[in-house]
Amino acid sequence: MSSGPARKRTAILISGRGSNMVSLVEAAKPADFPAEITLVLSNAPEAGGLARAAEAGIATAAVDHRPFRGDREAFERAMDEVLRINQIELVVLAGFMRVLTPWFVTRWQGRLINIHPSLLPLFRGTHTHRQALEAGVAEHGCSVHFVVPELDAGPVIAQAKVPVLPGDDEDKLAARVLEQEHKLYPLALAEVASGRAVLAGDSVIRR
Ligand code: GRF
Repeated sequence: MSSGPARKRTAILISGRGSNMVSLVEAAKPADFPAEITLVLSNAPEAGGLARAAEAGIATAAVDHRPFRGDREAFERAMDEVLRINQIELVVLAGFMRVLTPWFVTRWQGRLINIHPSLLPLFRGTHTHRQALEAGVAEHGCSVHFVVPELDAGPVIAQAKVPVLPGDDEDKLAARVLEQEHKLYPLALAEVASGRAVLAGDSVIRR
């Protein structure tokens, strides 16, 4: 038995197909990976990623946001309770399509990360690949960042770049970026879970 440091109990929050979740689960399989994926939680009971997580042997849960009728904090309190019951230490957003309130973000500050499909601070919000094509940039990519109350504004932990090529449309560019997301997110999660990347105010400290 190895007696290395305890692995961080990690939940992945999804809303859809969960391809980033699958890559994280895969990366976290070795016993020396600093995060252990112990829960996949969705706001959408029908999310395809839940079945994929269950197939991989990960516990799954759904907290449907719809019955909360726009009371975002009540919805988040219900999610938070599921995280607490599962003794979660780190929360990883992977295609989670609900905007989080300052209550939840503050509660999980420094232990809550997200992947965004652009080179932040460029192209916050949705339709990032369309935004990149319309802006005519030569390079695009993805960013993993700590979550802060302001949307897509948290300090960046890691980024990966791709070229924008002649003939690109949104789908082609999204696929090229997604390939990088699947590599970048496990690396960034390892940095955070091992304590090598720490949130300190508006920046990320490396140890
Ligand atoms: C990814 O492009 C991610 O960056 C964005 O939503 C997409 C989720 O894809 N936030 P998947 O569910 O991980 O396949």
